Amino acid sequence: MTDPQRRRQYLAELGIPLWLPRHDGLLSTAAVEAPTPAPASDPALLPAVPEPVAAAPDPVAADSPLDRDIAPLDADWEPCLDVGVDIDVELDIDVDRDVNDDAPHPAPLSRAARIATLDWTALEAEVRQCQSCGLCTTRTQTVFGVGDRQARWLVIGEAPGADEDRQGEPFVGRAGKLLNPMLQAIGLRREQVYIANILKCRPPDNRDPTPDEATTCRPFLERQIALLQPRIILAVGRIAAQNLLATDTPIGKLRGRIHRLGPARIPLVVTYHPAYLLRSPREKRKAWDDLRLARRALANPAATP
Ligand code: URA
Repeated sequence: MTDPQRRRQYLAELGIPLWLPRHDGLLSTAAVEAPTPAPASDPALLPAVPEPVAAAPDPVAADSPLDRDIAPLDADWEPCLDVGVDIDVELDIDVDRDVNDDAPHPAPLSRAARIATLDWTALEAEVRQCQSCGLCTTRTQTVFGVGDRQARWLVIGEAPGADEDRQGEPFVGRAGKLLNPMLQAIGLRREQVYIANILKCRPPDNRDPTPDEATTCRPFLERQIALLQPRIILAVGRIAAQNLLATDTPIGKLRGRIHRLGPARIPLVVTYHPAYLLRSPREKRKAWDDLRLARRALANPAATP
C-alpha cells in the first residue's frame, strides 16, 4: 500500500475528510460526498507516526444533511487527501465534541424564571405535572386554584387537605364550608374571588408544609399573583401569612393591619384560618374585623398605609 493510500484509509477509518483551499484539479467526486460525523475514537489507539492532517469540517454544516451535501461545493474549501501536516495537530482535534459546542448557548432559564413566563393554561399544566418535591408521590392530584381569573380578591390558604386532594379544588372540605359564608359576609360569592394555596399538593396527614416545599412551590403562586393582579390579598391562617410575608411573627401580631406584598405593593390582610375558627368560634369576631379591614383597603387604597 502506498503512503497516500495508507493515509486515505487511516483517515477514512477516523471518518475525517481532508479539506484544502479550492484549486483546480482537486475537485473530485469525493469532494461532494458528505463528511461523515467523526466516530468516537481513543487517541491512544491512533498511530504515533506523522500522518497527513485533516482540517475539521464545519461542525455546524455537518449537522444538517442538506448543508452537508452542498457546503463543500459552495465553500472556498474542498476535500483533499494530502497536505503533509504533522499528525500531532490532528490529535488536538476533539472528534468527539458535540457539534454545537462552539455555538454560543443562551443561558437556560431557571425553573422560577421559566414559570414566570407561563400563561394560565401552561401554568396549570406545569403544576399538574410537577414533581419538584416529594409531595408528588403522595398526592392524589394537584390543587391549582379556583375562581375568577379577573378577581380583585385573592384568598390564599395553606395547602390542600384530604377533600381538596380528592376533588382537586381548594377549600371544599370543612374549612371551605366556613370560608364561603365568611366571604358572603362581605358581599362576595366564592365564584367572585380567586382561591389558591401556598402548596399545590397535600402534605401527608395534613402536616405543616416544610420550608423547602413552600419555597419549591412558590413560583407557582407568584405567577398566579402576577397573572391575576389582585387588588387585595386575604391570607388565611398562620402558614399562609408567615410564608407570604417571610416572617415568623405570630399570626395574632400580623392580623389587624395592612401589609404590602411584592414590588406591586398589593395590600394584604391576615386573618385566622377557617379550620381554626371552627375550633375556636369565639375568634370569629376578630376574623370579621379582618374581613372588613380588607374590604376597606380595597375600597380606599390610598387611605390605608
Ligand atoms: N385548608 C387550606 O389552607 N387550604 C385548602 O385548600 C383547604 C384547607
